Amino acid sequence: MSVSNSVLKLNNGISMPVIGLGTYKIYGTSVIFSVIEAGLKCGYRSIDTAAVYGNEGDIGEALKILLPKYGLRREDIFLTSKLGPADHDPSRVRAAVAASLDRLGTSYLDLYLVHWPGVARRPADSPDNPRVRAATWAELAALSAEGTLRSVGVSNYTARHLRQLLAAGTGVCPAVNQVEFHPRYRQRELAGFCREHGIALQAYCSLGGASSAGALLRDGTVVSVAARLRRSPAQVLLRWAVDHGVGIIPKSVNPERIAENIDLDFVIPEDLMEILDSISVVEKYSWDPEAVS
Ligand SMILES: NC(=O)c1ccc[n+]([C@@H]2O[C@H](COP(=O)([O-])OP(=O)(O)OC[C@H]3O[C@@H](n4cnc5c(N)ncnc54)[C@H](OP(=O)(O)O)[C@@H]3O)[C@@H](O)[C@H]2O)c1
Repeated sequence: MSVSNSVLKLNNGISMPVIGLGTYKIYGTSVIFSVIEAGLKCGYRSIDTAAVYGNEGDIGEALKILLPKYGLRREDIFLTSKLGPADHDPSRVRAAVAASLDRLGTSYLDLYLVHWPGVARRPADSPDNPRVRAATWAELAALSAEGTLRSVGVSNYTARHLRQLLAAGTGVCPAVNQVEFHPRYRQRELAGFCREHGIALQAYCSLGGASSAGALLRDGTVVSVAARLRRSPAQVLLRWAVDHGVGIIPKSVNPERIAENIDLDFVIPEDLMEILDSISVVEKYSWDPEAVS
């Protein structure tokens, strides 16, 4: 099966496309429209956004026009959004979900993630954080049982945060943990924990994100493996994650790159996977949740 049609089976039985379209820092009605159109045209069926990205409204408007244009229905698309740190509180969850649904023009989300283990305006080391996380999660579990959220998950949770959440005993295990994951930030312990507990790992910053200024795409090992496979460094980084059983959500505003990033039907032979796995540079390009109690 083509990688573009492949899915990860989540722990609640729902299928999540392996590849989704990232939308962080994509703003402007016409830019969003052209990105979503380029994505749908070349086969993306999953879109990742978040309340804090400020683009849910434009994505909703684009989908209203583009789904019928391409003969697609709402249920053909896997839509993910996230609860922002300012709404990370059990008393705010329902209103936050309702606002995201309204902006996206949908009655349900396929996946809804707690964006960050911390809470806005509360110190990262506040001893209250685990309690607030557990209470917020209980609300999300209720919305999931009601069907408004087909799956619920977390983002930027360390193994410690996940252990605390599972110990809180809501009975609902996160379906997904969306985290930074690439050859320079392997997250081996976290990946093992998620595998053990049936939590799907979804990678962000697979290409290093905008803040890396291309450092990961220029990594000497990645570049030489890409040359041997006659693929681009971006394709090698994305296929590497897929071959580790991890979902990917690359972002681009460029239609050619959007197409390139889903064109992943090639094989990285075992010896080249080992070479990529042995990259010893450790570099993190996005926010670090370790300090959140
Ligand atoms: N949960 C979280 O906390 C969190 C954090 C960060 C991101 N995310 C999600 O994950 C998605 C992906 O992460 P990201 O946007 O930070 O970074 P990314 O996908 O790793 O990288 C995006 C950067 O790479 C460039 N790029 C894309 N395709 C390329 C290609 N084929 N060749 C060369 N350069 C390419 C893009 O530039 P152009 O746009 O100019 O092509 C952009 O500068 C986000 O959009 C968002 O949906 C989640």
